[in-house]
Amino acid sequence: MSARKDMAINFQDNMVLLTKKYLKRKIMCPETKLRHHVKERQHILELMKRTVELGESNSALLIGPRGSGKTTLVNSVMKELSSTKYFKENALIVNLHGLVHTDDRLALKDATRQMQLENVVGDKVFGTFAENLSFLLECLKSGNKKKSKPCIFLLDEFDLFCNHHNQTLLYNLFDVAQSAQAPICVLGITCRLDVIELLEKRVKSRFSHRQIFLFPGDNGASEQSTITAFDERLKLFQHLLSVPDDENINLDEHDCEDFTINPQFGATWNKYIEKLVSNVTLVNLLKRMYQLDVNERTFRNFLAIAVSSLDEKHQTLEVNDFVEASKMLSQDDKILILEGLSVLELALIIAMKHETETFEGEPLNFETVFNRYMKFANQTSSIESVQRPVIMKAFEHIKNLELLAPVGGTNSKSEKEYQYYKFLLTPQQVIEAVKNYPELPTDVKQWVNNSYQ
Ligand SMILES: Nc1ncnc2c1ncn2[C@@H]1O[C@H](COP(=O)(O)OP(=O)(O)OP(=O)(O)O)[C@@H](O)[C@H]1O
Ligand SMILES: [Mg+2]
Repeated sequence: MSARKDMAINFQDNMVLLTKKYLKRKIMCPETKLRHHVKERQHILELMKRTVELGESNSALLIGPRGSGKTTLVNSVMKELSSTKYFKENALIVNLHGLVHTDDRLALKDATRQMQLENVVGDKVFGTFAENLSFLLECLKSGNKKKSKPCIFLLDEFDLFCNHHNQTLLYNLFDVAQSAQAPICVLGITCRLDVIELLEKRVKSRFSHRQIFLFPGDNGASEQSTITAFDERLKLFQHLLSVPDDENINLDEHDCEDFTINPQFGATWNKYIEKLVSNVTLVNLLKRMYQLDVNERTFRNFLAIAVSSLDEKHQTLEVNDFVEASKMLSQDDKILILEGLSVLELALIIAMKHETETFEGEPLNFETVFNRYMKFANQTSSIESVQRPVIMKAFEHIKNLELLAPVGGTNSKSEKEYQYYKFLLTPQQVIEAVKNYPELPTDVKQWVNNSYQ
C-alpha cells in the first residue's frame, strides 16, 4: 500500500473516532440552553430577579415528569443570572438535593456551608442541628445588611424533603419567605404532580402555591399535535448527530481544543445524517419509541448506544445500529427480576396474572391469590405442597420487589391477608418471563396460558 493511501486511511479512521467522541459528549453532556418552555423559564427568571434586585421573597414549585428539562431550565436561568455582576456580587445560591441531603441535619449543614456563614471554619460546620437552624434563621431574618444578602434556595427532588422529620426545614424556609423577613426565593423541583399533597398543613399554608408545570412536547405553540411534537424529536435527532462543518464551525459549544473535526469530513457526515432522517424504517422506529416514551433522557441514551457502535471498522451509523440500540434499551428490567424468583414465587405471579385478568384489573389480595394457587397445586403432581406461611413469605417477597402496589392506604384493622394490591406486571411480561425461566416444570409453564386450571 502506498504511503499516501495509508495516510488517507489513517485520516478517515481518526475522523470517525473524533466524531464518535464529539457526538457522545454532545449527546450526554447537560445542555445549558433550554429549548421551548419560554414562558415557564421567564416566570422563574423573574421570580429570582425580583428577589435579588428588589429584595422580594418568593416560593415556587417547578413540576414536570422525568427528563422534561426541569434541571436544564433552572441551570439555564442560573447561568443567565450569573452573567450579571450585580447578581454575582449580591446573591447567595444554596443548592440542595433530596437524594444527597437525606435529612434536615445534612441539608442544614450544607446550606450553612454554602452560605459561608460564621459558624463555618474552613469547610467544616460546627454546632448541633438546633443551633445550626436557629443560626441560619437568625442570619436570614436579621436586618444586618451584610448578612441579609438575597438568598436563592434550589431544592432538587423536592418531594424527598417532605419525608424529613416534621418537615422542619421546609416549614422554616417557607415561613421566612412568606413573612418576607429576608429576601429569599425557595424553588422546589420535583416530578411528583401531587407534591402539594405531601406538605403538612402548617407547611402548606406557608407556601405561595405558585406551581409551574413543564410538560414534554409542549413547545410553546398552542394546539400542538403529536405529529409536530414528533417532528421536533426528528429535528433533535438530526441536531444531536451532526458535527461542526464549514457552515457552523464556531457555533458549537461542544467543540473543544483537544480535537477538531475536519470541516469537509463534517459536511459529508452531516449530509449523510440528513439523508438518514428521511429513511422510512428509521422514522417508524423513532415514532414507535416516541409513542412509548417521550422522555428525552431515554432518547439521548438510545442515541449514545447507537453512536458507540462507531469504530475503525464501522465508520457510519446505519439504520440497523439504531434498531439494535432500541433493542438494548427496551430490555425489560421487570422480566429480569422475575427470572431470579423461585418456582413457587413465579407460580404465585402466574396466579396474580390470572386473578388480574379474570377480574379485569381489579386489585387482589393474598387470600385470592392463595386460593387460586392451591387449586392449581392440588391438580398437579409437579409442585410440592407447601405450608401457608411459606406461601405468605413468597407473597411478601414479591411485594417487596415492588411488583405489587398497595391500594386504598394501609388499613391497620384489616389483616395483611386482606390488604389489597394492584398487580404491576402486564400479562406479556409474565408470559415472557415464564418462557425465559430455565427448567420450569411443564405444568407451571402451561398454566400461564390457561387460567381455567
Ligand atoms: N427543553 C429542553 N431543552 C434542552 N434540553 C432538554 C430539554 N428537555 C430535556 N432536555 C435534555 O434531556 C435530558 C434530561 O433533562 P433534565 O435533566 O433537565 O430533566 P429533569 O426534568 O430535571 O429530569 P429529572 O426529573 O429526572 O431530574 C438532559 O440531557 C437535557 O439536556
Ligand atoms: Mg432533574
